[in-house]
Amino acid sequence: MRLDRFLSGQTALSRRELGELIRHGAVTVNGTVIRKPDAAVQPETDAVTLRGSPVSYSEFHWFLLHKPEGVITAARDPKQKTVLDLLDPADRLPKLAPVGRLDKDTSGLLLITDDGVTAHRMISPKHHVAKYYLARLRDPFRPEYVRKFRDGILLREGGREEACQPAECCAIASDLAVLELHEGKYHQVRRMFAAVGNHVENLLRVQIGMLQLPPDLPEKRYLPLFNKDIESALKNSDISTVCAFCAENLSSYWIK
Ligand code: URA
Repeated sequence: MRLDRFLSGQTALSRRELGELIRHGAVTVNGTVIRKPDAAVQPETDAVTLRGSPVSYSEFHWFLLHKPEGVITAARDPKQKTVLDLLDPADRLPKLAPVGRLDKDTSGLLLITDDGVTAHRMISPKHHVAKYYLARLRDPFRPEYVRKFRDGILLREGGREEACQPAECCAIASDLAVLELHEGKYHQVRRMFAAVGNHVENLLRVQIGMLQLPPDLPEKRYLPLFNKDIESALKNSDISTVCAFCAENLSSYWIK
């Protein structure tokens, strides 16, 4: 792989900036200063430094963000603050994008990656990766929601009614529900509760597959993820485990 390409995949600097740095002698490969942007490097084995700091190689990058309310899920936007604006400039690698979408008013677990293939696997309804949401409801949770959500709530999509996939839900307090979804229609959780006559006051995503929102991760903060975390996000969990986790950690989230 070309040296400038290697560096542009691991840093937030542009190819032009990197070209300048390389030509000015700021980059070494295996201890030797290399001044040619098109010099060949072996990403897995060569030791590369930039301005004296080692640059480690990873084909893809993953971050787990505790998204706050009020920020939009987009890579960039001319007017509004996006989830990528919450990353340190040094972490804003060129191909990063959010995995799926949380509404502006929804908080919680959001993944950000430059691994488009795995991201697609996580959001495509075909792969059945479960997403778990904690919702604070305006009115008390009613036992009949369980059956109605399992039967598949009908939502209006592009002028016609479409059934949602069967969904599990349960209550952990009279006004707090946990919902498991395997798809991501527009405003789905809010619209599903509206369809049964209730209203979602606050919404937090707590888990994807088996990957949980760490209760000690404050809003707007994020963590890098590793292969084992991504494998965990692709594994099945079940709603009773998630309910127990939410009940235990309620005081750490916005739902008090
Ligand atoms: N369902 C919603 O209503 N909003 C979200 O952000 C995610 C799921």
